[in-house]
Amino acid sequence: MIRTENLSRDFGGGRGLQGLTLEIPQGAIFGYIGPNGAGKTTTIKLLCGLLRPTAGRAWINNLEVGPKNLNQIKRLVGYMPDMFGVYDQMSVWEYLDFFCAAYHIPAKHRDVRIKTVLQLTNATHMLDYQVNSLSRGMHQRIGLAKTLLHDPQVLILDEPASGLDPYARIEMRQTIMRLRDIGKTIMLSSHILPELASVCDRVGIIEKGRLLAFGTVADVTRKVQENMELSVTVDSDPAAAVTVCQAFPGVQKVSLSGNEIHLTFTAPRSTVADLTRKLVEAGVRVQELKEEQVNLEQVFLSVTSQVRDGKEKP
Ligand SMILES: Nc1ncnc2c1ncn2[C@@H]1O[C@H](COP(=O)(O)OP(=O)(O)OP(=O)(O)O)[C@@H](O)[C@H]1O
Ligand SMILES: [Mg+2]
Repeated sequence: MIRTENLSRDFGGGRGLQGLTLEIPQGAIFGYIGPNGAGKTTTIKLLCGLLRPTAGRAWINNLEVGPKNLNQIKRLVGYMPDMFGVYDQMSVWEYLDFFCAAYHIPAKHRDVRIKTVLQLTNATHMLDYQVNSLSRGMHQRIGLAKTLLHDPQVLILDEPASGLDPYARIEMRQTIMRLRDIGKTIMLSSHILPELASVCDRVGIIEKGRLLAFGTVADVTRKVQENMELSVTVDSDPAAAVTVCQAFPGVQKVSLSGNEIHLTFTAPRSTVADLTRKLVEAGVRVQELKEEQVNLEQVFLSVTSQVRDGKEKP
């Protein structure tokens, strides 16, 4: 549904987007993660046809993004910018009605359309609120409702959860999943990393204009996690357990916290059973041995630290 090939926008001095190639299938939720200035908004603007690439191409539903197809692209895509204005002295209904008119939705269909989008975004009760009186969470919901007015197949949301409190974030996440369930393909950018893991089928990590990792959360995590992190909880004699672990081939970085031993295991996965046997033979009562899951935040830090130099540029 979204495809790019070597998509690039050079702003000079290495800034912008460099050679982005990716594919996002219909019905997926794609999380685009990157630090400030990484190139997320640039990518989004290129996909919506709001910026011209300096190289490469992009397609939405097999339609190439470019001046020739811009009207069709606008019909296919619903774009919610990271910052958007609302109009003073307008009710939510008037605001949405105004955008219905901009999308050439006939007046007789607008009432149903507005009610539908408000229902999808859980904002039906806001119909008569003044738009300039909305809280940040309400504002984002109305922004999303506006993005849905022309029933686009693809939703591109730039930082939709930014500035939201935990309740509003959960609400936004549920809305995004509801939209996926009715068949939308969704791309969203975010800084709030753990937020994305639970909702995205695919993630891309970008820094300094380059895509550093792309795939399912599990794929990306596996790529980064060369070694297993194990934790062993023992009933008795943690010191003996530490000694056994330290002596085991392929075990590195052993640390003890209470009766829990944490270790990095670089030997083949099949030999974890041998470590358990050694512990039992040494008289250690093993309560639990488990692999610690690396989370998306750790993956992000691990991937991006390779190109971070600590010098921020505008
Ligand atoms: N119109 C422009 N002219 C010149 N440079 C630009 C322009 N737009 C963006 N840039 C530069 O391109 C780089 C990527 O910017 P972009 O806005 O895409 O980052 P981002 O990942 O969306 O960051 P943030 O998380 O802060 O929103 C930055 O270095 C930025 O300064
Ligand atoms: Mg941005």
